[in-house]
Amino acid sequence: MASTPYTVRWGIMATGWIAEMFTKDLLTNPACRGVSDVRHEVVAAASSSAKDRAASFLSMVGAPSTAKPYGSYHELVADPDVDIIYVATPHSHHFQNAMLALEAGKNVLCEKSLTVTASQARKLVDKAREKNVFFMEAVWTRYFPLSIKVRELVSTGAIGQVYRVLADLSFNKDAAEGRVEWDDSHRMVNPDLAGGALLDLGIYSLTWIFQTLYHLQPEKEKEAPKVVAAINKYHTGADEMTSIIVQFPKHKSQGIATTALRVGTDVDGHNSGGPAIRIQGSGGEIQVMGPAYRPLQYKVIKKDGGGNVEVVDCPIPKDTERDWGHGMFWEADECARCLRDGKRESDTLPWSESIVIMEVMEEALKQGGVQYPELITTDVFDAQSPLNTGKR
Ligand SMILES: NC(=O)c1ccc[n+]([C@@H]2O[C@H](COP(=O)([O-])OP(=O)(O)OC[C@H]3O[C@@H](n4cnc5c(N)ncnc54)[C@H](OP(=O)(O)O)[C@@H]3O)[C@@H](O)[C@H]2O)c1
Repeated sequence: MASTPYTVRWGIMATGWIAEMFTKDLLTNPACRGVSDVRHEVVAAASSSAKDRAASFLSMVGAPSTAKPYGSYHELVADPDVDIIYVATPHSHHFQNAMLALEAGKNVLCEKSLTVTASQARKLVDKAREKNVFFMEAVWTRYFPLSIKVRELVSTGAIGQVYRVLADLSFNKDAAEGRVEWDDSHRMVNPDLAGGALLDLGIYSLTWIFQTLYHLQPEKEKEAPKVVAAINKYHTGADEMTSIIVQFPKHKSQGIATTALRVGTDVDGHNSGGPAIRIQGSGGEIQVMGPAYRPLQYKVIKKDGGGNVEVVDCPIPKDTERDWGHGMFWEADECARCLRDGKRESDTLPWSESIVIMEVMEEALKQGGVQYPELITTDVFDAQSPLNTGKR
């Protein structure tokens, strides 16, 4: 007889775009992706500004009528029926919002980038440890079967020793008069919301470098990278084009992470521009077709393969009843399994690795002279910060 799946009760913090994608994924039937050991319930959602907005969000995503709408983040984190909070606010808010939830003793899955500064990330990790709760950065791509397969290929030596990884996530949003398509107040370019290419997009380029060059290093040999960065700034002060060389000298490897808002990885909207990620080893290369955050295909090209290219498609399963499947359910399943197993962090993205990646981004932004306001860079928690109370 099949055992009862372990159930996790989610509270959704924020009602924006990614909150919608993630919550719809939570509501899909796990059987559609071949999962039977865990399941998810959406029990509450909160808007920073109005209860009505949370109620409309819950009805729009198709949550059960029992799910509770809240008009403040404070009410959400106080709900005893919520096991874990998904923080889906702009990254400017992550430190204060995630800390609010951790302080309340909640488990937390926090969107990327985890924070604005490395110090904030360290403080969140310290708090999760102190409160003995689960905490994870929501880098969903790491939990794709495609990523798992690529990491397995690299670690089993399918392409020999990996020396170099090139990874790009860029969008061509170039617009008239030297601007990009977003308004200056949009979170993608607004420094008050930690805007810029690196924290929003470049983190995925770094994800590919870290999950192939760093994550697979044996624990005792883990090497902090050296970082050289070049940044072009947008007129708001946010970064619009950032290139980072991430060097692991002891491992003789380098990663080159690029991100931009004026040229795209995908040149023509049909993915004709070639792979977004090239993982290059002594015996061959793995190419991943973009976008880097939601890849659906990889290729293995062996040095002695005689021109043969193995092409593997990895489509994202859909719940046909709900007509939905975005690919974020795999990271949710990871959270559920960690909670079930009493784990406080995920092996696939440990706390230490999120912190190292924040350190790399912080160093790159420093080299490029990008500065964010004190309100969003402070590592001092304030439950009454406007970032927690929704006062704009
Ligand atoms: N994993 C992914 O693929 C992915 C994709 C896109 C974005 N993200 C990440 O998810 C986060 C949110 O991105 P998004 O695209 O969902 O943004 P969004 O559509 O602008 O939504 C952000 C939400 O945060 C809340 N919020 C609270 N204070 C805010 C403020 N001062 N300004 C704007 N919104 C505020 C709002 O909801 P309420 O006020 O109603 O609470 C808003 O709807 C970012 O950190 C981003 O990096 C991840």
